Amino acid sequence: MTQDEMKKAAAEAAIEYVQPGMIIGIGTGSTANHFIDALARIKGRIEGTVASSEASAKRLRDHGIPVLDLNSAGQLSLYVDGADEATRHLHLIKGGGGALTREKIVAAASEKFVCIADDSKLVDLLGAFPLPVEVIPMARSYVARELVKHGGRPQLREGFTTDNGNLILDVHNLQIMDPVALETELNQIAGVVTVGIFARRPADVLILGGKDGVRTLK
Ligand code: 5RP
Repeated sequence: MTQDEMKKAAAEAAIEYVQPGMIIGIGTGSTANHFIDALARIKGRIEGTVASSEASAKRLRDHGIPVLDLNSAGQLSLYVDGADEATRHLHLIKGGGGALTREKIVAAASEKFVCIADDSKLVDLLGAFPLPVEVIPMARSYVARELVKHGGRPQLREGFTTDNGNLILDVHNLQIMDPVALETELNQIAGVVTVGIFARRPADVLILGGKDGVRTLK
């Protein structure tokens, strides 16, 4: 089984959380894309979706799945998205695709967050994957200096602008012992829009695709 097949298996398993009439939050990335493709098969049963990126919105619309504005959708029942790293506590690093801000908003507005991934994403300690931090462009250098004070080595994601018109610093060298504390601390740096640690609002369910099939952590 390839890594992509494992992602697909996790995405297909998440379909069981979809209930008739739901408005579903949709993440971003290759695993979320598999979920969108699976959702297309049952699109007549749901009311619509809220997308966490322009890329996912386009894929949803291409399938004929309605995409709603979060402001009119209100509280969502379900959010389904991938991750770059996940722990057994369901703390995550996200933002490899640069959509972390909208992902965090949609996750916050959802009752249940189902995270889907291949099992290579499961780690004991977050931080081997460089932590994405979305920053306001004029604050780039200041935020980078502050991140160095926290022991990180920030690197500008070259040639990349987020859907919100901002920049991404990918922070290497972090060993994230206390994800809730670090998320809270880095969020306080002026100019930081969003930090890619999802621990204050972790996933509720983690579905991992592996060689021997799919397993679920709650
Ligand atoms: C995008 C994300 C993705 O969920 C994360 O990068 C995982 O991507 P993939 O499913 O392609 O492995 O956070 O901002």
